[in-house]
Amino acid sequence: MASADSPTPVSDPRFRLSPTVARELSAEYGTPLYVVDEAHFRARIQRYRAAFLAAYPQAEITFASKANSTLAVIALAHAEGCEIDVASEGELRAAIAAGVPASKCHLHGNNKQLGELEFALSVGVGKIILDHFGEIETVAKLDRPAETRFVIRLAPGVDPVTHAKISTGQADTKFGFNITDGSAEKATQRALELGLNLLGFHCHVGSQLLDPEAQRSGGFLIAEFAAKIARDHGFIASYLNVGGGLGVKYTDKDEPMPVEDYCRLVAESVSEAVKGSPLENVPFSLGQEPGRSLIAESGVTLYSVGVIKTVPAKDRGTRTYVCVDGGLSDNPRPVMYGSKYTVEAIRANDWTYTTDGPGAVMVDPSESTVTVSGKHCETDKLFEDISLPSDLAIGDLVQVLCTGAYNSAMASNYNRYPRPATALLRTDGTHILVQRRDTWDEMFARESVPSGLVS
Ligand SMILES: Cc1ncc(COP(=O)(O)O)c(C=O)c1O
Repeated sequence: MASADSPTPVSDPRFRLSPTVARELSAEYGTPLYVVDEAHFRARIQRYRAAFLAAYPQAEITFASKANSTLAVIALAHAEGCEIDVASEGELRAAIAAGVPASKCHLHGNNKQLGELEFALSVGVGKIILDHFGEIETVAKLDRPAETRFVIRLAPGVDPVTHAKISTGQADTKFGFNITDGSAEKATQRALELGLNLLGFHCHVGSQLLDPEAQRSGGFLIAEFAAKIARDHGFIASYLNVGGGLGVKYTDKDEPMPVEDYCRLVAESVSEAVKGSPLENVPFSLGQEPGRSLIAESGVTLYSVGVIKTVPAKDRGTRTYVCVDGGLSDNPRPVMYGSKYTVEAIRANDWTYTTDGPGAVMVDPSESTVTVSGKHCETDKLFEDISLPSDLAIGDLVQVLCTGAYNSAMASNYNRYPRPATALLRTDGTHILVQRRDTWDEMFARESVPSGLVS
């Protein structure tokens, strides 16, 4: 294994479609289309698990299904031996619908509703991550199977280097119990007093972290806390979970740490923190809960190119918009976080369009840096400053890499666009639709127009 001084070399780890398969999928299922590659996803989980086990013998991987809760994706994660993190009753129901036993699910949430807790306990959820004092009191009063275990979410007070909207480990957070102000210790004492089947502690400090320092120190701080609790209160944690957060390669500039190095860093920080404490010689399980870093790079989104127009633009002379048949409603991340992506062209045919070809519109040949835009009312400049062939034309496709996480999961019907379908590329080279596009009937099924509104 590589040492921290000689990190494991990485080539481009992202799945991409070949032009032939891309054209076949778009012809069969239409666009926009999410595509997930089964072999890539399975291999990623296997590599992550092997790396974590090499770094720590009692290592466990939980898939954070918020990243992609398509049933087939959850089923694959389960088939690869992951437990499933669910952040709501809906995600728990999705996991169950995907064939995952509730006992393999971990329920999170900073404001779980009574009904959510009752449902989770009634189906025998494996772990409930406790997030606030009221919840501790509530679950203690509810009927609960003896097997349901509880984990206390800690706010370790570290500020990760990432977008503020996906930063959760700092002191000023709605998630979990603060370690430094004594809340975490009080919560632990209270859970023990009430006889909850307490297993250990959890933290999740943020997402898309390319610098692993926050996770390293988050892991250290929760392990240090567990060691203190063992010394002061005699409670020996048998489970620590350091959450998810490892970043992925959205663009060529992103260089996530190889998972082997990352797992070693996390395991070392936790082991260092428990040294000399009663936990040092107790074989507690160490969990990670990645979402993005398991599924993001296994997915792409295919769009069809429509309108192409070059307009005058301040400070740059002109700007060429390449408008695709999706946008904000299937990928809100550029608008929410200013996220950047890698976009690649797939020509509609093997021949080259000409300006007088059928429906072809030539981009100014000198212009190859374009703005790929969506079709929503907002100015959804989806992807700016993208290099695409200058003779790109209507009917060509583009594939956006690394869209397996937080894309289909965050899709909406904004502007009444149907949410895209998801195709799964099987390991044998075949493909199958695992989530179809919304139908118009579904779009309006929840609504009614009261009689008398229209005269
Ligand atoms: C509690 C928890 N666990 C795991 C994750 C997954 O994070 P990521 O997708 O960055 O690995 C999140 C993401 O928000 C989270 O809130």
